[in-house]
Amino acid sequence: MKNILVTCAFPYSNGLLHLGHLLEHIQADIWVRFNRMIGNKVYFLCSDDSHGTAIILESKKLGISPEDIISNMYLKHKNQFEKFNIFHDFYFNTNNRINYFYSLLLLNNFNFKKLLNKKVINQFFDKKKNIFLPDRLLRGICPRCYKKDQYGDFCENCNSIYNSYELINPISYLSNTVPVLRKSEHLFVNINIFKKKIYKWICVSFLQDEVRNQLIKFLDYKFDFWNISRDYPYFGFKISNKYIENKYFYVWWDALLGYISTFKYFCNKNGFIFFNDFWKENSNFEIYHFIGKDILYFHGILWPIMLDILKFRKPSGLIVHGHVLLNKMKMSKSLGNFVSVDKWLKYFDSDSLRYYFSTKLSYKINDINLCLNDFIKTINSDFINKFINIASRIYFFINKYFNNFLSKKMWNINFYNFFISKSDLISNYFLNFDYYKVIFEINIFFDILNKCINEEKPWNMNLNFERNKLHCFCTTILNIFRVISIYLLPIVPNICNKIEKFLNCKLIWKNLNIPILNHRILNYSILYKKLDKSFIYNF
Ligand code: MSP
Ligand code: ZN
Repeated sequence: MKNILVTCAFPYSNGLLHLGHLLEHIQADIWVRFNRMIGNKVYFLCSDDSHGTAIILESKKLGISPEDIISNMYLKHKNQFEKFNIFHDFYFNTNNRINYFYSLLLLNNFNFKKLLNKKVINQFFDKKKNIFLPDRLLRGICPRCYKKDQYGDFCENCNSIYNSYELINPISYLSNTVPVLRKSEHLFVNINIFKKKIYKWICVSFLQDEVRNQLIKFLDYKFDFWNISRDYPYFGFKISNKYIENKYFYVWWDALLGYISTFKYFCNKNGFIFFNDFWKENSNFEIYHFIGKDILYFHGILWPIMLDILKFRKPSGLIVHGHVLLNKMKMSKSLGNFVSVDKWLKYFDSDSLRYYFSTKLSYKINDINLCLNDFIKTINSDFINKFINIASRIYFFINKYFNNFLSKKMWNINFYNFFISKSDLISNYFLNFDYYKVIFEINIFFDILNKCINEEKPWNMNLNFERNKLHCFCTTILNIFRVISIYLLPIVPNICNKIEKFLNCKLIWKNLNIPILNHRILNYSILYKKLDKSFIYNF
């Protein structure tokens, strides 16, 4: 049995969740559920990222204190996750006492190693809004590849990291005006001396090949000083005046430390999980962070450095995913082109999205374009026609002729065993994050099963001479239906819940090869309804 800590990146407290956030949590949740199914001990933690410029702007706009925004959003986020069957073992926010403690401790440790210095730098300032602009609220032409409409710190086209003042033709996202450069003194940590250590971590940790290559590139072209302070107005932790006056910690400083503080609170609450078991150097417990490709630099470079200085262990690995796109553009709050979770639930349900994302999720970092036609086709033609319908077709016989009782024997044990024999393959696909391969394989199962039903034609079996065969045949098909449902359980928990009730048995991985025989099933009620295509036009 493994002990595993799984986290997702912390959504900002200043906005509701959209389908982009959900991709990450669904990807992680499926992995967590599968690991638990096969007996591993997994803790799944997340938190809201409470600090930054955006929240102070939101607070001014709404006339509500940042603290109130945080607590309102906390409840909304939790509720939104739960509607998608995502139940973190603990969910918190980063504006807490322990997080502040670690923020200061980390700074003291950098200082102790003489790795702090102050510098006056130029930063973009929005004169209309009277505020220094955070990198993600700036847009301009990438100074490396000249692609338009890139962030102030990172180009999504060529994956370069740069300083915001290098951006060509910058525009403020807040006011749509051209920002000016203004001088301000800031606090920097020297990260150069960690280059070798981070290189070593990149080589030994669990990373997708694309991620490893990208991180090595980061080491090559951006590795000197990291600006960790921000000017007022800002909502965040104040830096001690002994280091620099009237500045706040850059939100990423305490956001990353939130992985530690959230876990600390979780341990305090539980009493039986020990912080050091996971975080001490050389711990053999595993820690994986699920993140989007846009925040790789923070997690793959800065975070291991912070952990190194604090003398904590480094993550076992990162699981990086691509973006959900809408009309080929990244779905995002700052671009305003997102589908909110609430809007999705007005038209569709959670399992259909979980299934659809699974058909696209792989170990590779692909973007996923949300195409509703494709979505409806996948759910109605593949999932419902080929799978869900099997249950109702076969139930008809078991109900009508056998009083809802399954037979004592199987019709063809080899046929049943074929589906069981695939469990290692399915398990590997889940553990390697290749959910699209799970779905692909299961679709082959659907086809084999439907072909078998169509060839054996239970509706033509003679009730006088073939009654026993009919009974055993339907029992076998329902048992295979149960096996496939066990494979699908991490992906579509709501539907599987109904299947458990219908089959009157729990879907348990270690019971895969124990068929339900001589067993009473319950009355069938519709497991899942076809999606209404006309919704696309209202959506
Ligand atoms: N607050 C930071 C993370 C701090 S982690 C210590 C942040 N927040 S975010 O709300 O912008 O994004 C949270 C996660 O959602 C990130 O991993 C990000 O990549 C992911 N996504 C946000 N938009 C997304 C898509 N359109 N598609 C897929 N994932 C997306 O970054
Ligand atoms: Zn570029």
